Amino acid sequence: MAKNTPIDPTSTDAWKQLAGIATDFSPDLRGWFDSDPSRAARYTFQAADLTVDLSKGLVTEEILAHLLQLAQDVDVAGRYQSMIEGSHINVTEDRAVLHTALRRPKDGSALVPPAGFVVDGDDVDAEVHATLDKVYQFADRVRSGSWTGVTGKRITTIVNIGIGGSDLGPVMVYEALKPYVQAGLECRFVSNIDPNDIAEKTADLDPETTLFIVASKTFGTLETLTNARLARQWLWGRLGGSGALADTDDARADAVAKHFVAVSTALDKVAAFGIDPENAFGFWDWVGGRYSVDSAIGTSIVIAIGPDNWREFLAGSHAIDEHMRTAPFERNVPVLMALLNVWYTDFLKAQTHAVLPYAQNLHRFAAYLQQLTMESNGKSVRWDGSPVTTETGEVFWGEPGTNGQHAFYQLIHQGTHLIPADFIAVANPAHPLKDETGDGNAVKPGQDVHNLFMANFFAQTKALAFGKTAEEVRAEGTEESVVPARVFSGNRPTTSILAPALTPSVLGQLIALYEHIVFTQGTIWGIDSFDQWGVELGKQLAMQIAPAVEGDRRALESQDSSTKSLIERYLELRD
Ligand code: F6P
Repeated sequence: MAKNTPIDPTSTDAWKQLAGIATDFSPDLRGWFDSDPSRAARYTFQAADLTVDLSKGLVTEEILAHLLQLAQDVDVAGRYQSMIEGSHINVTEDRAVLHTALRRPKDGSALVPPAGFVVDGDDVDAEVHATLDKVYQFADRVRSGSWTGVTGKRITTIVNIGIGGSDLGPVMVYEALKPYVQAGLECRFVSNIDPNDIAEKTADLDPETTLFIVASKTFGTLETLTNARLARQWLWGRLGGSGALADTDDARADAVAKHFVAVSTALDKVAAFGIDPENAFGFWDWVGGRYSVDSAIGTSIVIAIGPDNWREFLAGSHAIDEHMRTAPFERNVPVLMALLNVWYTDFLKAQTHAVLPYAQNLHRFAAYLQQLTMESNGKSVRWDGSPVTTETGEVFWGEPGTNGQHAFYQLIHQGTHLIPADFIAVANPAHPLKDETGDGNAVKPGQDVHNLFMANFFAQTKALAFGKTAEEVRAEGTEESVVPARVFSGNRPTTSILAPALTPSVLGQLIALYEHIVFTQGTIWGIDSFDQWGVELGKQLAMQIAPAVEGDRRALESQDSSTKSLIERYLELRD
């Protein structure tokens, strides 16, 4: 794709209007709700199963109108269409961006683009479904016990070895969908090159019942390949130690064939590692690492939750893809959420964005989103190489509620920074426990604990929006000297996302929602949200520095004085 110059959002009339509003912007959520009884209804939207309430955001009709105009001016819809049709919108890598193709149904007659579309010579749907079928067949074999380890025992533990997009998606989804995991199966995830990671994750495993999935798009990532070799070493060592493996190359190769499979775009490198290409699941350059959880990168999860649940998961994402493609921007949830993010980041100078799931099973969701959002939109140049004209990607962070309430919410409520926050919850928990005895006080016997949990969700978003005035604090009889410390300013923006339950489909919907938020913000900022050159320098330097850390004097002497003295100190400390 030609490196067309992105439209500079700051040159649009909409941007100028928003900048004018922002100069003396004084949000008043109390007043806005008081004067407009329909505010909650007007700003609540539905996307598939997600009910999304933006009414506690710092937004008015006037602001929203300009934001929507901005989305039109930079042609978010046109670029989205280009993306799903396979244009090379990842211009710095000259690649198509087709994660949406990973979740198109097999038999969709009304698909856009139509079924059978070809990108870079690939019949996209045919390739996606052929790979999915292969993953499903393999998953069924492991789940049924017909795939066994080298000694004939059925597999009970799947260890996914990968990092970044080849880890964060699978681990997040596994944790989120734990209630759907087949009894007798467990997944573990090794990512860090810190040897403690693999050592601790394998310490109590039985090699005879362990299957490793080496997940790496490039099959060239230092961490993953190092861990894969360590895993192979562990397998051979442990099987050999127990007498279950003969000391021959053939026996070792056999063990790898039964205990290792791979997921990669580089099947030649997979074969070179010793993994049978029959046991390798491919994907394509047009799937970015952080957008790859729906590809064969999710093989560990397909094994754990089964093909039917996986199909539901993909269908959930597809439903949001269709919402993104077809819903008018006035009701288009990813577009609206992205526009609010632009408003907060570029006009109200927010630098971070909290994601606060009130669902313990989403405890890795913020970590997953950190790669999705920050590796995508943490850029200072636009897709034509020119400098950005605005602030770009926010720092995404978060922890599940209510844990966060007892940790960092203080700063969100009363600190000096504006921190927009997404609160995410489901109505029906996987474990609907009751507190049979209660506390004899506020918590009644038989209290539904999820309701209590959700009371916290509603309370936090309310407190952040409406705060507590000095008069209200005084009216509680508070001593005057501590009144200021007990005032809550309110006007701290939140978005509430509610879903019926944390089903595979709902999880797929949440993932696609944030993918399209990222896309929309990237389009407005004119950046290529699909490359990640910023991770390269550190990787290169690590390989240059590695000899110095191994004690090579010449390599050590060539370092800057700070790095050199740190390495020297490290070597002194190292036993
Ligand atoms: O270093 C960043 C990165 O390239 C991510 O974008 C990617 O998800 C991760 O490394 C892992 O890459 P791979 O799947 O090729 O091992």
